[in-house]
Amino acid sequence: MDWITIDACRRHQQLPAATEIRGWVRTRRDSKGGFSFLEINDGTCLGNLQVVVPAELENYASEVQKLTAGCSVIIHGQLCESPAKGQATELHAESVRVIGWCDGETYPLQKKRHSFEKLREWSHLRARTNTLGAVMRVRNRLSQSIHRFFDESGFYYLHTPIVTGSDCEGAGEMFRVTTLNLEKLAGSNRPFDASQDFFGKPTHLTVSGQLEGETYASAMSKIYTFGPTFRAENSNTSRHLAEFWMVEPEAAFFDLRDNMQLAERFLKRIFADCLEHCAEDMAFIDERIEKGKLAQLQGVVDKPFEHMTYTEAVTRLTSCGESFEYPVKWGIDLQAEHEKYLTQFVGGPLILTDYPAGIKPFYMRVSDDESTVAAMDVLVPGVGEIIGGSQREERLDVLQRRMGEAGLDEQEYWWYVDLRRYGTVPHAGFGLGLERAVQYATGMTNIRDVIPFPRTPGNADF
Ligand code: 4AD
Ligand code: MG
Repeated sequence: MDWITIDACRRHQQLPAATEIRGWVRTRRDSKGGFSFLEINDGTCLGNLQVVVPAELENYASEVQKLTAGCSVIIHGQLCESPAKGQATELHAESVRVIGWCDGETYPLQKKRHSFEKLREWSHLRARTNTLGAVMRVRNRLSQSIHRFFDESGFYYLHTPIVTGSDCEGAGEMFRVTTLNLEKLAGSNRPFDASQDFFGKPTHLTVSGQLEGETYASAMSKIYTFGPTFRAENSNTSRHLAEFWMVEPEAAFFDLRDNMQLAERFLKRIFADCLEHCAEDMAFIDERIEKGKLAQLQGVVDKPFEHMTYTEAVTRLTSCGESFEYPVKWGIDLQAEHEKYLTQFVGGPLILTDYPAGIKPFYMRVSDDESTVAAMDVLVPGVGEIIGGSQREERLDVLQRRMGEAGLDEQEYWWYVDLRRYGTVPHAGFGLGLERAVQYATGMTNIRDVIPFPRTPGNADF
């Protein structure tokens, strides 16, 4: 017989029904009336399925009464309407097979609540907790929605390389790729040979798939990438990872306005999907992680996003009377504290545009005023920047000038410059950090808790 998921059991309409479930014990309670109650979870939903086990089962005393949190089991029985409050169904067990015992003495996830910080020490087990389970289901939903949105909007899914020679953001914060030749190293006590580049060429892990993405947008019109991205910035904050997942659409014949509209439609869609398809998890988040999250996300879906230029934002920040740690003046890169003030001021997502050319990468299109570029960041309350994007510089001469100013060797980016030589078009795109989107959807304060295995300075063991 096929088994069914606990999620399906909890929604089952045709009762009673012969059913098999497979999962892990969350709790066991023995009643005086000759029953045990097991709460079983298999990760397909937040809630557990209550299983009523009668004492008549042949392994009742020898096994069932020894079950502890974490044991894995296969249970057959009749799925029935439950008389208990808060659950529609329960399983009346006819057999309980123990698949894997779990040592209650050493199992870290006992009933007691652990801090998220403590749970990070058990990256291999923490998905068995309610919160991490909910967060990872939301992460899955957002990821699936991202693909659906772009597929339905006519964007091709493009795989850009992880190993690359170009530095898209020009920040120089990259992880170098080296070759480890174990045969050569045998007998040598050097851990690795740093002179060994990628077959003789210096390369690093990608900081963004954008430049490669632009080449395909210049042929296939609309593309998006969605993959792991690496930044060697040594920032130990609650919103930075050394390895994160970025979604990057790029569209030919798009200007900044089109780009902003795409970003807004995109965010509305993925958060709406989250509310619709992760209703149970989102209700739990609203109750336990961040009160008001449901109403906040519904607001994102329903209301138009606010817009402000960088210059307007600076005026606002300098006239608001707040004292910021980092003083504000035109030309600075906005800091987290400034973004926080601005999003609180507008009370929702904010699209900031037209940043100073001096603080943005070479590829952003220079505006007529020559001092700003056609850049856009989307900021949200609590997280700050979740999207960074721009219209790209499509004019050959201006691009060459900007590359020179940025100290880039045009020879190295000859293929990128070629796109401006052969049928150039206005085009635009952006990057959404998936983890920041998950943080916003779930209210989780630390980015380390929204990715299965966070990679941060000093943390890459498993
Ligand atoms: O603003 P960023 O650096 O933009 C780019 O990389 C562009 N090439 C994207 C494009 O236009 N195609 O990064 C984009 C987004 C940020 O808004 C943020 O959400 C996320 O990527 N991000 C990070 N997320 C986690 N940890 C980090 N260290 C991140 N750096 C950027
Ligand atoms: Mg940015």
